[in-house]
Amino acid sequence: MNQAANPTHIEATGMAGDSPASARGHRSAELTIVVPTLNERANIALLVDRLRGALQGIDWEVVFVDDDSRDGTIAAIREIAVRDHRVRGIRRIARRGLAGACLEGILSSSAPVVAVMDGDLQHDETRLAAMFDIMRGGETDIVIASRYQDEGSASGGLSRLRSSGSRLATRLAQLLLKTPIGDPMSGFFMLRREIVDQVAPRLSRQGFKILLDIVASSPAMRIREIPYVFGPRLHGQSKLDSTVVLEYAGLLVAKASGDVISTRFLAFGLVGSAGVVVHLATLHALLSRGLPFVAAQTAAMFTAMAFNYSLNNAFTYRDLRRRGWQFLTGFGMFAALCSVGVVAGVGVSSLLYTSSSRWWVAGLAAAVVGAAWNYVTNSAITWRAR
Ligand code: GDD
Ligand code: MN
Repeated sequence: MNQAANPTHIEATGMAGDSPASARGHRSAELTIVVPTLNERANIALLVDRLRGALQGIDWEVVFVDDDSRDGTIAAIREIAVRDHRVRGIRRIARRGLAGACLEGILSSSAPVVAVMDGDLQHDETRLAAMFDIMRGGETDIVIASRYQDEGSASGGLSRLRSSGSRLATRLAQLLLKTPIGDPMSGFFMLRREIVDQVAPRLSRQGFKILLDIVASSPAMRIREIPYVFGPRLHGQSKLDSTVVLEYAGLLVAKASGDVISTRFLAFGLVGSAGVVVHLATLHALLSRGLPFVAAQTAAMFTAMAFNYSLNNAFTYRDLRRRGWQFLTGFGMFAALCSVGVVAGVGVSSLLYTSSSRWWVAGLAAAVVGAAWNYVTNSAITWRAR
């Protein structure tokens, strides 16, 4: 008889205590550590060793979420996982994003408490036990390991520039979002898993700021902070780049506006504004070479559209990026949708122009209507989540 199909049998075995090891195998851990990785091969074994040392007496597991690293990080993870069931690895294909990786790791867990920490040994794993103790007290929803509290520090792990950038970003978050957190940019925290379950559909999957996003999206969290020292990186290099900084700015605006203005829409608008400049520059160049106006205008329009499409594909929708053949068909959709946007914009502005005759009001309305149309339709069609 198939024992797995008979739950009472399993329960009876567990209760009789004649197979404690297999009974334990059926229970979820009490703490899941989620570790996002991108090219961290050299750090994996060392990190797992340190976790083993730091988490004695706790029923823990670690879930690495790897974005298909080129250096074979996932192989290093699996090599350990076959010998230690507390180690798991999720390999994501064709996806990028620290926040999204953390989110997937958290959602893969059934433990009541989940921690997020970096895979590069910059986060002090010896703080985990103290954080778990606070969580176990039951009075706290989230414990944040803070670089900016008491004896906490970031000086060892950040360059001068990064350090002042990080402090500026912290001040901005505190001002705009009125968050009481001392280190809202921390990538090292522990929380009740249920909280993420509730807000997951609303969280951004781009960028580094998952903590800030979770806290800003969940009302009335009971927050505790404990200090830690942000250490230096031993192997590999940081993945924080200018796009990450831009995404952060977008997240602040999105959260401060109550999610009315999304990060994507801001990026789309920025690209669109740059496109206007490209359009005018091309038009000017072609006219001065003696091209007739209609030809120059048509060429300028296509140049600007190709420019906007490529930039949106690379940045605004980089998580849904179209490649190869898809890149070309996408351009067709983009151009078609934007042409409709032009017609809609011109329609609205000529209506307004006849009623108010203020040219700039009509012009601005056309730009807003066109941009909104282009954004909404291209999000739904050209870069819809596949
Ligand atoms: N899966 C996945 N996908 N992992 C990623 C990605 C990604 O796109 N980008 C980065 N990671 C992983 C790295 O491999 C590392 O384990 C961790 O996320 C942190 O990335 P780092 O590149 O080392 O970030 P950092 O040290 O510059 O930034 C740290 O400090 C920031 C505050 O200054 C992190 O803790 C940030 O979370 C924190 O905001
Ligand atoms: Mn790091």
